[in-house]
Amino acid sequence: TDFIIMADGEMWFEGILFPNVFKPEILRDIGDNFVVKNDDTIIVTYPKSGTNWLIEIVSLIYSKGDPQQIQTEPAWERSPWIESNIGYEILLNQCGPRNYTTHLPIQLFPKTFFSSKAKVIYLIRNPRDVLVSGYFFFKELSIVKTPDKLQEYFELFLKGSVAYGSWFEHIRGWLSMREKKDFLLLSYEELKENTRSTVEKICEFLEKKLKPEEIDLVLKYSSFKYMKENQLSSNKQMIDHFKNKNLTFTRKGVTGDWKNHFTVAQAEVFDKIYRERMAGYPPKLFPWE
Ligand code: A3P
Repeated sequence: TDFIIMADGEMWFEGILFPNVFKPEILRDIGDNFVVKNDDTIIVTYPKSGTNWLIEIVSLIYSKGDPQQIQTEPAWERSPWIESNIGYEILLNQCGPRNYTTHLPIQLFPKTFFSSKAKVIYLIRNPRDVLVSGYFFFKELSIVKTPDKLQEYFELFLKGSVAYGSWFEHIRGWLSMREKKDFLLLSYEELKENTRSTVEKICEFLEKKLKPEEIDLVLKYSSFKYMKENQLSSNKQMIDHFKNKNLTFTRKGVTGDWKNHFTVAQAEVFDKIYRERMAGYPPKLFPWE
């Protein structure tokens, strides 16, 4: 069997931990049968890398900065999560060019993707910030069991025993596509540092020509401040659904917050494992180095 549900409710599929509301049969069907189309645009991230920010940006690029859609339609409908029960249902019934999101590691992604011309934007982030962001997020989310203490979460993260598995494996898997024409590698850090030019890069990749004033609107409506204050439906509906006001997709929105949370010892342990696991990559690939 390719999945196991533990006594404590944890769900593991192909050796990867998933939120326990996910269905193994859907995950299996995605890998084996889901048809990726040439005109699909797919946002791929390891959780907590800035997924919702990128979804907002892409939605706004498609609407040329008009906020009407992001103000009325939740992110999970605009860019459904393929592996979620709702997202999968939406995508099976959707016609025309699709835009969807996934956190799946590459080995679980639809096999049909590899012979398609679908466009993938892969967004990466300093794994130290991913760890801290995930700790605060998953702690509030009942569908993934998360320890109270950062030290315990830290150990699980480095072992890959967290939702969607090891960050290192996720990166290794998806970066194998990085020479492909239809693959755009972006980082949270460059998006934060050079938001405008990175948005322009996304426009070019998606073959969307926006006027400078339309780019201004994209930047305005996808800013951290706007996304937080606006309490966009994605955020709000998640809070309502889980009845937890501490849940948010817009916590702090900065780079380097790990420095406020890691002890010196944790930083050293992380560095050592990072160096071992990331050996062989050109450092300039990763802006946090
Ligand atoms: P922090 O927890 O470090 O604040 P995801 O959408 O993949 O779950 O990622 C969530 C992270 O992206 C959170 O990081 C969140 O604050 C950050 N984020 C969301 N919207 C953002 C925005 N407009 N600008 C900068 N960061 C944003």
